[in-house]
Amino acid sequence: MRQTMGINTPDFDYLRQLVHQHSAVVLDGDKTYLAELHLQPIAEAAGFTKIGDLIAYLRHQPLSDLHIQAIEALVTNETSFFRDTYPFEALKQVVLPELIKKRRIERSLNIWCAACSNGQEAYSIAMLIREYFPLLANWSVQIIASDFSGKVLARAKEGRYNQLEIKRGLPKNLREKYFKLLNNEWQIQDEIRQKVDFRQINLVHSWSILPSIDIIFLRNVLIYFDIATKKYLLTKVRQQLRPDGYLFLGSGETTLNLHESFERVQFNKSIFYQLRQVPSDNAIAPGSE
Ligand SMILES: C[S@@+](CC[C@H](N)C(=O)[O-])C[C@H]1O[C@@H](n2cnc3c(N)ncnc32)[C@H](O)[C@@H]1O
Repeated sequence: MRQTMGINTPDFDYLRQLVHQHSAVVLDGDKTYLAELHLQPIAEAAGFTKIGDLIAYLRHQPLSDLHIQAIEALVTNETSFFRDTYPFEALKQVVLPELIKKRRIERSLNIWCAACSNGQEAYSIAMLIREYFPLLANWSVQIIASDFSGKVLARAKEGRYNQLEIKRGLPKNLREKYFKLLNNEWQIQDEIRQKVDFRQINLVHSWSILPSIDIIFLRNVLIYFDIATKKYLLTKVRQQLRPDGYLFLGSGETTLNLHESFERVQFNKSIFYQLRQVPSDNAIAPGSE
């Protein structure tokens, strides 16, 4: 049975190429069992008895919803509330206090979660701001959360989480304050939900709908890309980030050896990145006129 449901090497190569073409994600060659696990329900729902039949069908059809479903199922969307804790500590203790000083005249902040999955990361930021920075209630604070996957975005917009998801990383007091239990699922309050602006953005496509950003969360997504794509995306981040802005990456990710523009800043156990302040070549030296 296991054998007939399995994915052979040419089929897995096809899936790798399909996923790479649409998301730039590089699937590990040794993860065929995961692909089987995630594609099986899609194959069944589409009326195929074997995953091999689904793949044979996909190979010979133009891009369709079924291709998108397969791609979305093969890309990891693991996430949790306040994931890794430390970035949120830095946000609370350093980054937001510094930005509040720097932007006190314009009273505006743009924050972007660049691969937001089911929304927990963006909602964690919204709750943190609501809890600790009441002053920002009178500012224009835009929290944009994006992902290439329409499937995760639809869930993120709903803001409804199961028992397992709600237990991961969310302190009890915040659960009690900002969620209510509805049919065994936890629904985030509208007050927080409406603070996040969800948009569909594929990181390897245009970011032109975005404003300049003060804080970028680009966490746990670079690890799935090849080196050239990481470098390309970090160049785009440099352009999108305000010169004194802040970048957060996942705990296993770095800009080191990828992009020279970023400086690593450590605060206790938290790490974030800022743009190096390079003197402009065109700057006129004092007294040279
Ligand atoms: C592992 S999750 C990380 C979620 C969250 N940032 C965190 O750290 O918990 C990776 C997310 O990246 C998204 N993703 C993968 N490739 C992408 C691309 N090319 N453009 C936008 N999002 C992408 C996936 O859909 C997935 O939701």
